[in-house]
Amino acid sequence: MLTLQPIGFVRTGKHAKFQALHQPAESAQEQHILELVPGQGYENGLRDLTGFSRIWLIWWFHKNDTWRPMVLPPRGPAIRRGVFATRSPHRPNFLGMTPVQLLAIEKNRLLLGPCDLVDGTPVFDIKPYIPAYDSFPDERSGWTGEVDAGLAAPPAFAIEWSPLAHDQAEWLAREWHVDFRPRLEELLGRDPSPHRTRRIKKRPDGQFQIGCGGWLADFAVLEKTVHIIRIDPGYPARLLEESEPGSIPDHAAQLAFLKHWGSTRDA
Ligand SMILES: C[S@@+](CC[C@H](N)C(=O)[O-])C[C@H]1O[C@@H](n2cnc3c(N)ncnc32)[C@H](O)[C@@H]1O
Repeated sequence: MLTLQPIGFVRTGKHAKFQALHQPAESAQEQHILELVPGQGYENGLRDLTGFSRIWLIWWFHKNDTWRPMVLPPRGPAIRRGVFATRSPHRPNFLGMTPVQLLAIEKNRLLLGPCDLVDGTPVFDIKPYIPAYDSFPDERSGWTGEVDAGLAAPPAFAIEWSPLAHDQAEWLAREWHVDFRPRLEELLGRDPSPHRTRRIKKRPDGQFQIGCGGWLADFAVLEKTVHIIRIDPGYPARLLEESEPGSIPDHAAQLAFLKHWGSTRDA
């Protein structure tokens, strides 16, 4: 047994796990704060760190309490991989590590660039990122390299929208500024097969369904074409009506959608 005491907590404003990036995307225009616990002398431990533009955070996946030897990564085909060959949160000791941009230090607060931690994540340690020690760009990257090569290739499936799905998506974008068409086309164009983390499943009637944010789309696959049939809110009407405003993604848009388009989906 080993007892660890967090040195601080991150403030990212992302409260749900699905809101956090899978890895810190450099393109994301985000800034976050790491607040160190006061009264422990940690401020002195930050001396000389300002010269580093990137630091490692060693942290706790505190929202997880189970682990699995084999996990299904969100990227690539639906193949389970050994947990130690992944960056999955479902690990025996729940330790995360993230190289994050260090933008500024103000007393015991560190201003950070994009990172993949949810709000309130406990941080155990900070280390400087040293390119000469930490960067080996020519090393092999196993199954992730194969997935990246697949993603670099053009999408394997064409996408067709039914007139109904087309009008529904247009209406959502126009009236509510909700537009998940690019994400849907990217996901389904690459691989429309059932996948838990891509939220694609086969329905009992043989058609498929994908979850995209708070929305659902039904689709069929014919040879190399994905036919998107219709869109629905991801939540049943009664739940939407009884929930507090804002407690469900796109809550108002989902209620308005049901009013405008109705739903053929079972409650
Ligand atoms: C794929 S992991 C990678 C984390 C880290 N870069 C690593 O390699 O150890 C990132 C995901 O962990 C999840 N996550 C972030 N903070 C978490 C926390 N405190 N507890 C549980 N899961 C968390 C989010 O879903 C995020 O997308």
